[in-house]
Order: sequence, then C-alpha cells, then structure tokens
Amino acid sequence: MTSSEIRKTFLDFFQSKQHTIVPSAPIVVKGDPTLMFTNAGMNQFKDWFLGNQPAKYRRVADTQKCLRVSGKHNDLEEVGVDTYHHTMFEMLGNWSFGDPNDPNAGYFKKEAIAWAWELLTEVYKLPKDRLYVTVFEGDKKENLHFDEESNTCWKQHIDHSRILMGNKKDNFWEMGDTGPCGPCSEIHVDLRSKEERKQTDGKILVNTGHPLVIEIWNNVFMEFNRKADGTLEKLPARHVDTGMGFERLCMAIQQKKSNYDTDIFQPTINYIEAMSGIKYGSSEQTDIAMRVLSDHIRAIAFTIADGQLPSNNKAGYVIRRILRRAVRYSFTYLNFKTPFIHRLTPLLADQFKEVFPELFEQKDFVQKVIKEEEQSFTHS
Ligand code: SER
Repeated sequence: MTSSEIRKTFLDFFQSKQHTIVPSAPIVVKGDPTLMFTNAGMNQFKDWFLGNQPAKYRRVADTQKCLRVSGKHNDLEEVGVDTYHHTMFEMLGNWSFGDPNDPNAGYFKKEAIAWAWELLTEVYKLPKDRLYVTVFEGDKKENLHFDEESNTCWKQHIDHSRILMGNKKDNFWEMGDTGPCGPCSEIHVDLRSKEERKQTDGKILVNTGHPLVIEIWNNVFMEFNRKADGTLEKLPARHVDTGMGFERLCMAIQQKKSNYDTDIFQPTINYIEAMSGIKYGSSEQTDIAMRVLSDHIRAIAFTIADGQLPSNNKAGYVIRRILRRAVRYSFTYLNFKTPFIHRLTPLLADQFKEVFPELFEQKDFVQKVIKEEEQSFTHS
C-alpha cells in the first residue's frame, strides 16, 4: 500500500463505523495559552472533552498535522539522529465524545480496542505475533486504579503474554501541565528480523527506545482534567481519544526499517541526493543531515502555510530555530553553500495536495518566506 492508500484506508474504516471525517486543525494554536502548536489530534476537541462546549459529533476521525517541538511533548533533539521521531508528523485519530446527560452515548474501551485490533490485523494485515499492547497498571500516589477494563478487552483479541503493564509515565496521557487526560493503552510493533526476534524477546524491548520496537497507536480513555493546582478532577463524561503515528504505521506496513525509507520521505531524500551529489546511506553524518532536512522542511512549510511566519518570539522563534537547525546541517554536512531548503517546498506541496491543500495553494509564498529567512541567516 502507498502512504496515500494507508491514510485513506484509515479514514474509510472509521467512516464505515459511523465516524464523521473532519479536516486537520491548523498546526498553530490560537486562543489557548497552554499550547503554542497542535501537539495531538485531540487539541481541537479540548472544549468538548472538558464539557465547555457540547460535542458537534458523537464520533470523529481525521489525520492531524502535529508539531512536537516545545512544551510537554518535545522530540526535536531526536529528529534525524534516529529514524522514527519527527518535528511535524501526521496523527491518525478516532474519537468518541460522551454526553454528561446520557451515560450510554458514545463508545468506550471495548469498541476502541476491538476496532484498533481489527484495523491493524485484518485490514492492514500486520502480523499478530509482532504486536504488543500495554495497559495502565495504576498509580498509588495519584489514587489511580489498574485499568482492568482494558486488560479484559484486550484478552478477547490478543495472546495474554503480549499484554504488558505500563506505568504512569507511559500509560497515563496528558495534553500538557493542565487539561484533559486519562489512562491509555498503547499498541507497539516489533519490526526486527526473524533472527533478532529469536535472540531477544520483543516484550523486553517495548518502551526502551529500540528503533524497531516502537509504539504505533495510543488509545487514551479520557476521564480526568488536570487542574492548575495539580489535582485530577473527573470529567463530566468519558471519551475516547486515539492517535496513531502515520509515518510509523507506513514503515510497518511497507516493511521498512526507518520512517525515512517510506514513500512519505523518499521523494524528498531523492531530491536532496540529486542536488548534493551525495548518496543516502553513504555515511552516518550525511544520512542524519538528509533526515533532518526532509523532516524539518515539513514542519517549516506547513507551519508557515498555517499562518505562522518565522520571527524573534514565541511560535515564530520556534520555527526560526527549526529552520536554522536545517540550514546548519545542510551547510556543514551536505555542502550546500547557498540557500537550498526552500527548494524542497514545491515537492512537498505536490505530494500533499490532496490531503493538505493549504500548502499547495500558498507554495510560492511559503517558498519565498523560507528563502528570505535562509538568506538572512547565512548572509548570502
Ligand atoms: N492524545 C493521545 C496522543 O497524543 C492519543 O491521541 O498520544
């Protein structure tokens, strides 16, 4: 399957389960002082979770442009050095919104878990013996119980030995210092070779930072609001918030060993190879640099297309820093001595024309902004 087919299959699957497909919210968050950039699919539904606004739909699915470069969720330093973290990534998500006046409205753990399993193993056909799931073990300090319900639901689908317990750090998801949160159940995939899997049980590599034993999908069961004083208060209703890393899912389905080997990043990497005269795979340093460029251009271009220009403060400064990180790698390791990064924009705009048309519609403007920014940084 191509990445476009994988994305479409996700949305079609949840549409067939009566979900309304909504567009991605912009990457730049306006009107929420707790957040600079969209860091999860659930951000745009925060007020529905908290009960500040009635949910417009009971069930929703989408692909959300996310940026994890500041605040509670910040992966910037890993990006490029490893093969599976990104600044900007797509999060595929499905949601159920409960109703404070009707405890039977919406679905919860049973359905979310059953559908996640059905989609991964029956539709995408990921081998069951490469999957692990985690369940929240509880936390005494926070007075949170073991998530027995998820554990019971998983037992209907997966070999019991593949259900692992997780602590608050890995299995209790929070949007930020405050806001909606709840226990979560993650799905991990083991993409190592047969020999490696024989040698070391994948179970002990889950959540250890192994590049081929990685989380692909997080199912969060929203039940609490973390308040500014640190306490947890029960939400008026229970909700489902799931997020699947699209680039990682593509790596798993396309049987690659790196997100950058999928058809999402390969066109950009091929272009960088052609322009630099350096082959991807020829050295660790140039590989990292190519990954940095092919990742960062997405964060920069999509964020500018969503209305945030590089500047000297706040969100604008974060974008400026990401661009400068890319420029440094391109000058130091790829021998580009004149501004180059802006030239990646049209490629990206074409690639995402169907799913995120906002970049295609503004590609000349976005390219110009990036070029000027590169020029002023390098004085060229
Ligand atoms: N909010 C959860 C996450 O970002 C699931 O969507 O992982």
